[in-house]
Amino acid sequence: MHESHDDGGRAALTSFEPGAGRLAPRSVAASDARVLDLDGSWSFRLAGGLRDVTQGIAEPSFDDSAWDRVSVPGCWQLQGLRDAGGELLPRGQARYGVPAYTNVIYPFPIDPPAVPDENPTGEYRRWFELEDLGSSSWTLRFEGVDSHATVWLNGVQLGWSTGSRLATEFDATPALREGRNLLAVRVSQWSASSYLEDQDMWWVSGIFRSVRLLERPAGGIGDHHVMADFDHTTGEGVLRVVTDVPATVDVPELGVEGLPAGEELRIAGASPWTAETPRLYDVVIRSEGETLSVRVGFRTVRVVDGVITVNGAPIRFRGVNRHEWHPDTGRTLSEDVLRADVLLMKRHNVNAVRTSHYPPDARFLDLCDELGLWVIDECDLETHGFELVGWQGNPSADPRWRTAYLDRMERTVERDKNHPSVIIWSLGNESGVGDNLRAMAEWVHDRDPSRLVHYEGDFDSSYVDVYSRMYPDHAETELIGQGADARTNDATADAHRRGLPMLLCEYAHAMGNGPGGLTEYEALFDRYERLHGGFVWEWIDHGIRQVDREGREFFAYGGDFGEPVHDGNFIADGLLFPDRTPSPGLLEYAAVIAPVRVGFVDGAGGLTVRIENRHDVIDTAGLRFLWTVELDGRAEESGELDVPVVAARDVSEALLPSPAIPPPGSRRVVTVRVVIAQPTPALPEGHEIAVGQHVVTGPPVPARVGAARPQRDEDGWRIDRATFDHSGDLTALGSLVLQGPRLDVWRAPTDNDRGWLGHDRAWQELGLDRLLHRVDEVDVVGDELVVSSTTLAAGTDAGFRTTTSWRSTGDALALRLRVVPIGQWSMRGPRNPDGSASRRPVYVPRIGLWFGLPAGVASVDWLGLGPGESYRDSRDGVRVGAWRASVTELQTPYLKPQENGLRSEVWSAAVRWDDGTTLRLAHDTPFGFAVRPWSSTALAAAAHPTDLQPGATTHLTLDFAHHGLGSNSCGPDATPAHRLHAHELEREIRIAVDGEGR
Ligand code: GAL
Repeated sequence: MHESHDDGGRAALTSFEPGAGRLAPRSVAASDARVLDLDGSWSFRLAGGLRDVTQGIAEPSFDDSAWDRVSVPGCWQLQGLRDAGGELLPRGQARYGVPAYTNVIYPFPIDPPAVPDENPTGEYRRWFELEDLGSSSWTLRFEGVDSHATVWLNGVQLGWSTGSRLATEFDATPALREGRNLLAVRVSQWSASSYLEDQDMWWVSGIFRSVRLLERPAGGIGDHHVMADFDHTTGEGVLRVVTDVPATVDVPELGVEGLPAGEELRIAGASPWTAETPRLYDVVIRSEGETLSVRVGFRTVRVVDGVITVNGAPIRFRGVNRHEWHPDTGRTLSEDVLRADVLLMKRHNVNAVRTSHYPPDARFLDLCDELGLWVIDECDLETHGFELVGWQGNPSADPRWRTAYLDRMERTVERDKNHPSVIIWSLGNESGVGDNLRAMAEWVHDRDPSRLVHYEGDFDSSYVDVYSRMYPDHAETELIGQGADARTNDATADAHRRGLPMLLCEYAHAMGNGPGGLTEYEALFDRYERLHGGFVWEWIDHGIRQVDREGREFFAYGGDFGEPVHDGNFIADGLLFPDRTPSPGLLEYAAVIAPVRVGFVDGAGGLTVRIENRHDVIDTAGLRFLWTVELDGRAEESGELDVPVVAARDVSEALLPSPAIPPPGSRRVVTVRVVIAQPTPALPEGHEIAVGQHVVTGPPVPARVGAARPQRDEDGWRIDRATFDHSGDLTALGSLVLQGPRLDVWRAPTDNDRGWLGHDRAWQELGLDRLLHRVDEVDVVGDELVVSSTTLAAGTDAGFRTTTSWRSTGDALALRLRVVPIGQWSMRGPRNPDGSASRRPVYVPRIGLWFGLPAGVASVDWLGLGPGESYRDSRDGVRVGAWRASVTELQTPYLKPQENGLRSEVWSAAVRWDDGTTLRLAHDTPFGFAVRPWSSTALAAAAHPTDLQPGATTHLTLDFAHHGLGSNSCGPDATPAHRLHAHELEREIRIAVDGEGR
């Protein structure tokens, strides 16, 4: 049949065209026509490149019995990390190449449209049986193949295709036979299309979404377009279904029967679809040869006076950017995982998703329709790597790529046009500028005027309907809200942009510990109607499950597979850990964007509870408001608030008795929890959507006169049961042997500390990670033992003078810390315009004290914010209460270890050992603490959590002040209010030990 030499399709691989032999893109729906599912076990061989492809791969006579078997769908690099039995292989033994991670940089030379000859090529074959072909046509449909696929059926080439995250169909009819059929697919990792797919993610390949053979009966429906508007002025649904063959439409629930396709019908009594009320109707579309079942939501998207409205109401996005990821299967997701994502979003108050940066698995959008999420559906397009060559040769501006650009957009829109959840089309991401993008926008405006068009790279917004930005800081965001942001050169375009609604398609970079500053962004979105909110970058860490030499699991990131170019852990920037455990960042986000806010005003008439309904559409009828009063975590009273139903975007009040002032050193806390009373498919009864707290602090604990004055002895000093050495170090408190304290002004840099401002480098330059401590004087002054010391690093003059004063309060030891900065807390900055050297301030990571404690801590109890970690610019996701955690539970396992686990706003804590010994810490002025089985130095040095080994010392850090988290790994630093300048600070804490043992 095909005797000629197969060169691996070299010409097609370097073609500017998107494919050959494909059918026009369209929507598919559940149909009564036959479907043959071709997922499952396929024969597989990985060829090294063009010179290594299998000759005769397409021939039924070819014997592939020596090949491996893999599952389709799947990503071959991830499949090859495991043996045939599914067990993870030791590193270095991967069977099918390795995943490679780059953010911007292309992992191949920039020489479009050429690609390397070393082009990993997956060869797939599978037999299938088909009886009774009848008079139907048959369509072979691939939902996603990364990146370039050539397809043969029974030795006949059907065509080839690119566009990894886009569906492709071929007409299988001419090649199909009754009985056994052989499908062969050759998938090349690199092709010209790879230049258009430079998204910030792992490069992984294969037939990674489903494959099906669809019967197309004679008279069947080729394409269908459901236009279902909602007229909020009349309350009518407006339905028109367009099909390519004569058809009729039924909506049984609305009494619609036999509506001819193409005709518009206004339907009284249709309920509208919104993300808050995802009301769908079953619609049947019937042609002579086929019946389709589709689910339809009625809704109308409009921009009114510069504000996005749906069904007449303005909407706010509380969104996330979602890549498709699973730590074992890569971009191949099961329906369970897709559903888990939508449910996790809904249960964390997320109401919108941008499908960064490609259309998702189609089933994801079904779930968004069903469970309710606003969707920005983004085309599979990014050419960011051209930025590194000054955008020279960027495909967006090169007419030779025009067809490919339009092809991608058409396939996005045609596949997804019937989803009510999709309200905005996005052209792609970070693809520079150029007429190909404009052409895409024009095509969409023409094809689907019912939705808005988005592209962040169109800064002037000349061909889009929303002004979109990524990572502006709070100050600039506020200026945009006010319409006072900087003007661009083109006055007409500038004026146009200023009239558009605005959203942050990416903000709050969730890499590692953070993001901080969410509350402040939310306040801006509240303040300015033009600001429609934003989409946190990003939903999930793209870690890959691996085991270390000892067989312990960890999640790999860039570089872990020995990639020659990579971007390290920049791939771990999600609100979920790779195993879909919510990170503290997600809990914070959920609290900040809660659709109900609870506030308090304590006045003469009692405690007024202010309930703000921040939903755009629904009232509070489906919610309950449960209150409790606790004294230092112990429940005193509880009940349910009687709140009148609050309309969307409205406020109401209820009254509670004012809480009585608690005893000295205590807190009385009123908590109002807002929970679901009427469950929905996404939110179970009792699910908590918001919490508000009102804290009443008792008077300070009265100062006690020291029972004992410091005594000198041969080992040093003694105050009651506390012993100090000659240098004034606390060596034991009762039975507890300790080390320290040391001034602790460093933290293991977070990813945000390691951001573009380079705080970590500044701290290194000042030597905060290698401080030397010198005791200047130990003396008794009055009833206090006063230790004066200086903390500085070699080669710098920036540090602190510290005075630590100890005294007995009878039942505890009071420690008073005073720190005074010395030297220059600044470093060389960029040159000033006049050539002189500038200096920029160096912020202080933290001001605190370190203590070394014995290992074997059983638990830590505390009163304060918990249960999770919190930092000064990220403490909405925690609440005041009484908490207990083990040392392990106190650590947050960021993929790249870094500062974590701080418990803040604490007024008392107890560290308990197995033998009952308990170290107690307390003060009226709240403090923070971290308890770790390793040092900050070890934490900073570790590449993965498995590198951290508990040692003989438990490290206790008391935190009196710290620099906020910010989002500087890609966004802004902590807001000015949350920056820590070197400053004088005086704080006190009471320490006591009780229990038996040590
Ligand atoms: C943005 C980009 C995203 C991601 C993010 C950083 O510029 O659009 O794809 O790379 O930065 O994580």
